[in-house]
Amino acid sequence: MTYFKTLPLALLLAFFLAPLVTPAFAQSDPPERPSLSQITEAWLKSPHGDRTSEAFTHWNEDGEIPGRCAVCHSSTGVIDYLRGPMSTVGAIDHPVMPGTVVDCTSCHNAGAATLAAVPFPSGATVSTFGKSAVCAVCHQGRASTATVQAATSGMDEDTVSADLGFINVHYAPSAATGMGTVVKAGFEYPDKVYKGEFAHVPDFKNCTDCHRPHSLQVSFEGCTTCHKTAEEFAAIRISPVDFDGDGDTTEGIANPISTLHARLDEAIRLYASEVAQAPVVYSSAAFPYFFNDGNADGVASEDEAAFPNRYQSWTPRLLKAAYNYQLVAKETAIYTHNPHYALQLLYDSLEDLSAQVDVDMTGLARP
Ligand code: HEC
Ligand code: HEC
Ligand code: HEC
Ligand code: HEC
Ligand code: HEC
Repeated sequence: MTYFKTLPLALLLAFFLAPLVTPAFAQSDPPERPSLSQITEAWLKSPHGDRTSEAFTHWNEDGEIPGRCAVCHSSTGVIDYLRGPMSTVGAIDHPVMPGTVVDCTSCHNAGAATLAAVPFPSGATVSTFGKSAVCAVCHQGRASTATVQAATSGMDEDTVSADLGFINVHYAPSAATGMGTVVKAGFEYPDKVYKGEFAHVPDFKNCTDCHRPHSLQVSFEGCTTCHKTAEEFAAIRISPVDFDGDGDTTEGIANPISTLHARLDEAIRLYASEVAQAPVVYSSAAFPYFFNDGNADGVASEDEAAFPNRYQSWTPRLLKAAYNYQLVAKETAIYTHNPHYALQLLYDSLEDLSAQVDVDMTGLARP
């Protein structure tokens, strides 16, 4: 193990990337091809190469990353997963050592090169990601409609149950939201129809059509050929419908999503106080995100946002709405990955809570 750890990066690169890089060098200097050192530099500055990130250091004290976390939080884990049958979605059957990141070999290995079909937590499999398939392995979240249904089935919608705990979809599940109802990352209410893949336009469809694969950045200039009037990503707007009822249909599509998200926060707090009879408050920075709001002031103070004070008065109806609230909170670019799916989930969560508490749905439109 230590031998591998001390191997210089350059040697590792040469070993794993030789077959990939050679043809690029063999070509007659195509100008748009970044050099290996430019690629390495871009990657080092990206979140994937950030050795100090919580996403890679979280397990340092434990000394090992469990198999159910290793696939997305280590290069060793994802390589083992892609090499195997992927029979348990997002997990391998053994722990790995902490200390790796999403390095070159995570995406450039035999398993990733031949990866065609990506299984999701819902059980659905998607085979249309092309070269971006490896992105979908890690950016798929860890739960779906089925997870929430299984936890709440057979229970009365408005009775607090000690058997319920918050269900966290996990972070940046962009590939899952992008596929909409195909993989059901949101909690989808029964009898409602949901948007499938946000196919956008053919040249800007898969992850690496928009994101550079190494810096992970998206070039805004690439968008303005079509979205001519927008000045930032969040200002892009095509949909003509006034989803949030504010009379403005030119504001970026990110705007009605934030408006409905804020309204859902209010509705969740109202329902918790009136029906579950235990005030709740959300903190985006502290696990598991929903806490008892002892003084009912709607603000998560430092002493409130602590694990022992986690919210434990869940009813099925409240849990479903909170699950969707968290999905939209932790997929900060859902407005570009699947804006209408986000609006549908928020609208339906608000509508469902309105069966029990006073939620103002006036002017809201469901896509
Ligand atoms: C299917 C892939 C996947 C699995 C499995 C997974 N994670 Fe993650 N996790 C991610 C991604 C992607 C992010 C990065 C989100 C971002 O961009 O900040 C993340 C982020 C995190 C973070 C950082 C959160 C923050 O707010 O900075 C922690 C902690 C974490 N995961 C813990 C875990 C634990 C514990 C497990 C196992 C029980 C686990 N993860 C399993 C994909 C996964
Ligand atoms: C998160 C996944 C990921 C990581 C990490 C990653 N790559 Fe890549 N790399 C890709 C993808 C995807 C492409 C193909 C881009 C395309 O053709 O659309 C690519 C393409 C390349 C190419 C071909 C040239 C090009 O730009 O098309 C080289 C060389 C390369 N990567 C080297 C590296 C090196 C070196 C590292 C580590 C410093 C690295 N990659 C890390 C995903 C990754
Ligand atoms: C092996 C798992 C894995 C793969 C494969 C992977 N990612 Fe990631 N990605 C992560 C983790 C973990 C983070 C969080 C890193 C951090 O916090 O520093 C992340 C972060 C990101 C971020 C930054 C998110 C933020 O919060 O700012 C973007 C964008 C991203 N990935 C896109 C991609 C794309 C595009 C691909 C495919 C080319 C890809 N990822 C492949 C695990 C992965
Ligand atoms: C239509 C273009 C487009 C496509 C396709 C796309 N993204 Fe994004 N993505 C963006 C933009 C724009 C942002 C916001 C970037 C910013 O604010 O700098 C973003 C942000 C992100 C983030 C960070 C914020 C978050 O959502 O948590 C991640 C992770 C991410 N994308 C992953 C992916 C993955 C994985 C895929 C493929 C399944 C993908 N993206 C497909 C345009 C796209
Ligand atoms: C070739 C033209 C074209 C390019 C380039 C383009 N888009 Fe789009 N975009 C469209 C079209 C057409 C739609 C409507 C698609 C639909 O509703 O299915 C759209 C819709 C959107 C929406 C949803 C808007 C709404 O109001 O529903 C977002 C967000 C978006 N694009 C982001 C981007 C980003 C980010 C980029 C650059 C990375 C980009 N687009 C590049 C043509 C383009």
